[in-house]
Amino acid sequence: MRIDIITVLPELLSSPLGHSIMQRAQDKGLLEIHLHNLRDYGLGKHKQVDDYQYGGGAGMVMMCEPISNCIEGLQAQRAYDEIIFMTPDGQTFKQGLANHLSLKDNLIILCGHYKGVDERIRKKYITMEISIGDYVLSGGELAAAVLVDSIGRLIPGVLNDETSALFDSFQDQLLAPPVYTRPENFEGMSVPEILLSGHQAKIEEWRHTMSMNRTRERRPDLLEE
Ligand code: ADE
Repeated sequence: MRIDIITVLPELLSSPLGHSIMQRAQDKGLLEIHLHNLRDYGLGKHKQVDDYQYGGGAGMVMMCEPISNCIEGLQAQRAYDEIIFMTPDGQTFKQGLANHLSLKDNLIILCGHYKGVDERIRKKYITMEISIGDYVLSGGELAAAVLVDSIGRLIPGVLNDETSALFDSFQDQLLAPPVYTRPENFEGMSVPEILLSGHQAKIEEWRHTMSMNRTRERRPDLLEE
């Protein structure tokens, strides 16, 4: 999979996407991430990317031409499955959408800044608008990092058996069960007996029960979906 990210702050993305599982996915050639600094497409001597909004009001708006030039330059080289705009007024990001996007070949992600982008860019190019939650970030970069991380780890071959995504919270609309490692007794708190029993079928049954209980207590809404 190839992901092209258009941003005014590539530095905000290079670190979160350049470590651990995301770096390994890229080293293995399973994921290509290309960061495009919108400033390189800016207008005039000052490489302008934003301007005052028509009708007045505080806050700058990202201009059409730099974004349009960047997107069209990319589209001239390959076809894209989706052109995604990160924005608090998009659809809320969920595991199901991460699963769906992890099967795509080429994605563009546009990170918004300031007051947002000129509406005509959204109308002409954007095929999907995604929010990572009902709160406002100062830009789309951290949201894009969340999106790419959650998609990237689902690409076949990125995770090994041990880290398999199959047992993640949300993958079956259930929260993950509690987990334990050594020592067997920590300050008077013991590891549940069943986990030491070696009885794999019973352990799986216990884990499922714990998942159900935890989901009922913390996120009953998931059981209704
Ligand atoms: N940009 C600013 N806030 C955002 C959010 N919650 N989700 C996605 N992009 C954003």
